[in-house]
Amino acid sequence: MFRRVVQVLVSYRKSLSNDLTFRYYSNSVTKPTLPSVSFEPQPYKGPNYNDVIKSRNTSINPCVQLLYQEPIMVNQGYMQYIWDYTGKRYLDMFGGIVTVSVGHCHPKVTKAAVDQMHKLWHLTNLYLHPKMHEYAKKLTDRLPGDLKVCYFCNSGSEANDLAIQLARLHTGAFDIISLRNAYHGATPYSIGLCGIGTWKHSFPNGFGIHHAMNPDPYRGLWGGSNCRDSPVQTDRKCSCGVDQCVACDMYIGQLEELLSHSLAKKIAGFFAESIQGIGGAVQFPKGYLKKAYKIIRQRGGLCIADEVQTGFGRTGKFWGFLQHDVMPDIVTLAKGMGNGFPFAAVITRKDIADSLTDALTFNTYSGNPIACAAASAVLDVIDEEKLMENSHHVGTYLLHSLSKLRRKYEIVGDVRGKGLMIGVEMVMDKESKKPLSKDKISAILEDAKDMGLLLGRGGLHGNVFRIKPPMCITRADADFCVSVMDIAISKLSGI
Ligand SMILES: Cc1ncc(COP(=O)(O)O)c(C=O)c1O
Repeated sequence: MFRRVVQVLVSYRKSLSNDLTFRYYSNSVTKPTLPSVSFEPQPYKGPNYNDVIKSRNTSINPCVQLLYQEPIMVNQGYMQYIWDYTGKRYLDMFGGIVTVSVGHCHPKVTKAAVDQMHKLWHLTNLYLHPKMHEYAKKLTDRLPGDLKVCYFCNSGSEANDLAIQLARLHTGAFDIISLRNAYHGATPYSIGLCGIGTWKHSFPNGFGIHHAMNPDPYRGLWGGSNCRDSPVQTDRKCSCGVDQCVACDMYIGQLEELLSHSLAKKIAGFFAESIQGIGGAVQFPKGYLKKAYKIIRQRGGLCIADEVQTGFGRTGKFWGFLQHDVMPDIVTLAKGMGNGFPFAAVITRKDIADSLTDALTFNTYSGNPIACAAASAVLDVIDEEKLMENSHHVGTYLLHSLSKLRRKYEIVGDVRGKGLMIGVEMVMDKESKKPLSKDKISAILEDAKDMGLLLGRGGLHGNVFRIKPPMCITRADADFCVSVMDIAISKLSGI
C-alpha cells in the first residue's frame, strides 16, 4: 500500500515536471541551464570581494541592507542578465527593483545617454534646452485626456511628495487617503502614505494621511474566485454573479466608513498603485479603483495614480491605471522611466499644475539632459521591441506556469499579477495562510541565487517573491525561473 502511494506521488510529480520541462537538481539531477546569450562580459578588475564587504560594513549606513546572506558582487549587466565578479551569470527577475525596464545597458539607451554626455550634462531648467521639451512632449503624448503637464524630478518619493503638495494646494483641503500595504516612498512626507509598518520609524509622519483597508482578495477579509484582473485567481470561492463582486463592494464600504468617521467633508486626494509593488504584487478587486475614484471626487479630492512600478508597459498596457479603466488627476512616474537612470515625473492637468505657482518650486536636476535622452530612448525601445506586448505574453505564460507550483506545493499560497508584475506568496499552509518563516524564504532565495536566478521579496511579512524582470525576457527565461523555483521550493516543502 505504502509503495503504491509513493508510486502515485512520484508519477504525479513527474507529470507536473514534464509539463514545465523541469530538470531536477539534487543528487541525481541536472541543474537547470540558463538560456544561452551571445554576450561576453568584460573580466572583473575591481577590488576584491572581502575588501568590498569590509568597506560596506564600515562606510555605508547599516540601514542599507543586502538581499542575500552571501551577497553577489555584480560586475556587468546586459539585457535580462547580470554577471558577478567571478563571471557567473544570473537571470535578473527583479530588474534592480522593477527599474531596469528595457534591459541592462540596453545598447540604444546607452548610446543615447553617452551621445548626450558628449554634448551637455547639466544645466538646470533655468535655461531652455531641447531635450527636456522633446521628452515632455513624447511622454505626455502617451498619457490620456488632459494629463499633459510634467514636472521632472529624481525619484519616486520626490514625485509623490510633490503630488501630495499639488493635491492639497489645488483643493485647499488637507486630508489624503492611501491604502494599507501601499508603498509610495521613504521621504519624511511620502513615508506618511506608506501603509507597511516595517518601513515606519518612530518619528511623527503622515499628518493628515489616513489608511483605508487594503482591498486584498487573497489575504483580506473578503475575496473570491473571480476578483482579480489576472490569469490566476485566488483559491477562495464565492457565488458572485456576472458583473458582481461582493468583495469589491465590501472594501468600498470600508473606504466609505473611513471617510465618514475620520475625515473632513472635503478631502485633498487619494493615492493608489495599480498593483501594489513593495506590498507584494497585491491586486485589488476589479472595479475597486473605479468606485473609489468616484467617492473621492464626490468629496472634492484628486485621484493620484502611483505608476512608479506599473508604468511603461509592465502590466501589458502602457499604464497600469488603464487596466482599471480610470482617469487619474495626477500620475507619478519613476523607476522604469529611465531604465535605471535616476529620473521621475509628476504629470497632471494644467489647472492643477497652476496651483504650484504661488511660491517658488525648484529642483536642481529637474529635466537633466542625460536623463531625458535616456528616457526618450526607453520609449522608443518599448515600441520598437514590442516590450509591452512581450510583458503581456511572457507574463501570462509565466503566471500560468507558476500557478502549477501553487497546485503542487502546500507552501505556495498565492500566485498573482498581470504582465510582468508578479507575486508568489509563500505560506506555512494554504488553510492558515500564516506567512512562511523568514529563514525559509531566505533559504529559497539563496538557493535560487546559487542556481543563477535572482528574485525579489516583499509584502508586510517579506513572504512574497516578487518577479518583475526587464521586459525583454523570453519564454525560455520564464521556464528557467519556474524550474529553479520548483527545485528550491521542493527542498523545503517535504515533497
Ligand atoms: C510604487 C512606488 N512608489 C514610489 C516609490 C519610491 O520611489 P524611489 O525609491 O525612487 O523614491 C517606490 C519605490 O520602490 C514604489 O515602489
